Amino acid sequence: MKITQASFLMSNSTYQQCPKADKPEYAFIGRSNVGKSSLINSIVRKKNLAKTSQTPGKTQLINHFFINEDWYLVDLPGYGYAKVSKVEREKFEKMINEYLTLRTNLVCTFVLIDVRHEPQKVDVEFMQKLGENGLPFCIVFTKADKLSNTAVNKNLAIYEQIMLETWEEMPQYFVTSSVNGTGREEILAYIDELNQGFKP
Ligand code: GTP
Ligand code: MG
Repeated sequence: MKITQASFLMSNSTYQQCPKADKPEYAFIGRSNVGKSSLINSIVRKKNLAKTSQTPGKTQLINHFFINEDWYLVDLPGYGYAKVSKVEREKFEKMINEYLTLRTNLVCTFVLIDVRHEPQKVDVEFMQKLGENGLPFCIVFTKADKLSNTAVNKNLAIYEQIMLETWEEMPQYFVTSSVNGTGREEILAYIDELNQGFKP
């Protein structure tokens, strides 16, 4: 799929305020600083469409981007960020949980995981919860440019081993880099395929 148009639409703090749920939607989620906003920019090939930052906790709302005048990409706040207060964290969790479970046009959630790190409990449990709620997701390993291919493959094997403790098979996954565009075409092809099957 070629990207012919990409624009920022709106930011909201509740799923009820989001745009009309009549187009296929894909959400990017994961720990703070994992590279959600950067990956969105890399996918649409626009440097500053989604705001990125070296400081975790940059994205704080549900951000809708309209792509090819046909589907939505959504940038969500990161979870598991220790430096926000408990009250603040619970507020984010409620916002994200409601969005994920009640947004009717959400076709697939992309769970981003930094390929450099060993499996983190918060990510594994988050995917567990998606599964329990029957919410489709796939894994996007980020920052692959920071490791050698050998190291990437080694970490993928470790991740698969952990996932197979709770899942019958390894969920669909992509290996990406926002720096060199690795995985971009594969994600777009996957979205294209899902778009074809979307019924509002
Ligand atoms: P929050 O909105 O705070 O939750 O963060 P985020 O997940 O949106 O991360 P963001 O895209 O802002 O990126 C965080 C940092 O990681 C930035 O300094 C990015 O430049 C860097 N980064 C993101 N993706 C990549 C990548 O693929 N490769 C490399 N080398 N750096 C990356
Ligand atoms: Mg962000």
